Amino acid sequence: MARHSILTQIARSATAMVVLFAVIWTAGAVVWLYSNSVFGLDRHADLEVRELAAALAPLVWNLDDQSIQALVNTKAEDPELVSIDVQESSGGKRWTNGRPTGPETTKRVAPILVDGRAIGTISLGLSLEPRLAEMVNQIAVLIASQFLLLGIVLLSLTFSWRRVVSRLQAMVHSVDRFTRDQHDSRMPVVGDDELSRLALGFNAMAARIQKNTLTMEREIAERTEKLMEAEKLALVGSLVAGVAHEINTPVGNSITITSWLAARAKEIEESLRNGEVTPEDLRSFLADTESSLGIVQSGLGRTSELIQGFKVIGASQVVDERRLLWMSPFLNEVVSSLAPTLKPYPHRVSVDCPVDFVVENHAGALFQIVTNLVLNAHLHAFPPDGAGNIVVQSEVAPDDREAFLLSVRDDGTGMDPGIQEKIFEPFFTTSRTRGGTGLGLSIVASLVNTLGGTIEVHSRLGQGSVFDLRLPLVAPDQPSAH
Ligand SMILES: Nc1ncnc2c1ncn2[C@@H]1O[C@H](COP(=O)(O)OP(=O)(O)OP(=O)(O)O)[C@@H](O)[C@H]1O
Ligand SMILES: [Mg+2]
Repeated sequence: MARHSILTQIARSATAMVVLFAVIWTAGAVVWLYSNSVFGLDRHADLEVRELAAALAPLVWNLDDQSIQALVNTKAEDPELVSIDVQESSGGKRWTNGRPTGPETTKRVAPILVDGRAIGTISLGLSLEPRLAEMVNQIAVLIASQFLLLGIVLLSLTFSWRRVVSRLQAMVHSVDRFTRDQHDSRMPVVGDDELSRLALGFNAMAARIQKNTLTMEREIAERTEKLMEAEKLALVGSLVAGVAHEINTPVGNSITITSWLAARAKEIEESLRNGEVTPEDLRSFLADTESSLGIVQSGLGRTSELIQGFKVIGASQVVDERRLLWMSPFLNEVVSSLAPTLKPYPHRVSVDCPVDFVVENHAGALFQIVTNLVLNAHLHAFPPDGAGNIVVQSEVAPDDREAFLLSVRDDGTGMDPGIQEKIFEPFFTTSRTRGGTGLGLSIVASLVNTLGGTIEVHSRLGQGSVFDLRLPLVAPDQPSAH
């Protein structure tokens, strides 16, 4: 239920309206009733004193003591009359009565006339109190009926609102479902009122959004597929361009050298035919041949190396079966296999992994990944004679029980951000002169991708580097390049 329900708001304003109306109505009624009472009392007093003066005239003339007192007593019964006083002028006789039902509000004095001559006076005192008491009763009834009216208004409001609320709740439920991506959610349409029109409007809008979302999803899927195709093509293109560029130099050198050697051989052959060859010429020819073949051999060696690396990337390299792998002995085995390469150097390579930690994965691919990363740290992170630490670490991902972390960390030179950006690109190397092909990390990235994992590098100049891998504990059934 909403905190400020519409029913409460409507009930509040209806109550305020009814109360305001009641206050104005009651105030008006009080003013009207009061003035009516005051005027009424005045009129009553005038009439009464005139009538009494007329009725008393013959009685006072005859000094009919008994009748005068009887009339005075009868009049004193009037609840509004608080005093009645009849006075005879010649003898000074008086007849009085009255009961004080409240303070005297108005007084009337009139002469008692016989043939135009005053033979006495009559004075009447009247009180407004009885009229006011009646007025209070009338106002009380008025207020009670207004309360009754308010009650009836609120009750009928609640009853009719219940029906509206249940429809509104159904509509809110439909909107909730819609916002939770259930785009087939529609509002119930009942009758032909404002709510039904709202529901119809919502349903039309929802149908449109559903249609547009489906179209958009389809378009996004198509475009993503196209983009991925384009990306793949671009990658293949850059790989081919890279290979062509890398191979061009050694192959070009070999062609130049072999052409030159062929020309030299021709020269020697001609000299031989003419009998002009000296032992010195032959010796020089053989020396040229040897050095040329050396250059050609290293060029072809380099070419073959590049092609091997290229083939590795292309084939995505996961050739071995998936199996249970106890990571601690496995990683120690990888490090031991590198010992011959690393032994002459003062670096220390250690493994940090729980002894009972098992994954189900491809040992061959993991072997190649760890080897490449450790050799990279060994080759690029430390100066030839500088000592350092390389740590290979692995454990279950603390935030995901279906993944594990594998990292290779060194405390060597680190890399600047410009280099970090490029290290996974095929053929990017900072040690071409030392025989680096720049394919090591692209092979690693490609293998990680094939195993369904991710790789990140974190590094700072002078503070070492760490390669963080996150891989599924159970490798995908059929590894494939993503
Ligand atoms: N641990 C590291 N410390 C510093 N630099 C590194 C580290 N690992 C990689 N690099 C940088 O990344 C570059 C690319 O590495 P990658 O393994 O792809 O090629 P490479 O080692 O130069 O050549 P290859 O592996 O083919 O012999 C390296 O040339 C080096 O500059
Ligand atoms: Mg390398």
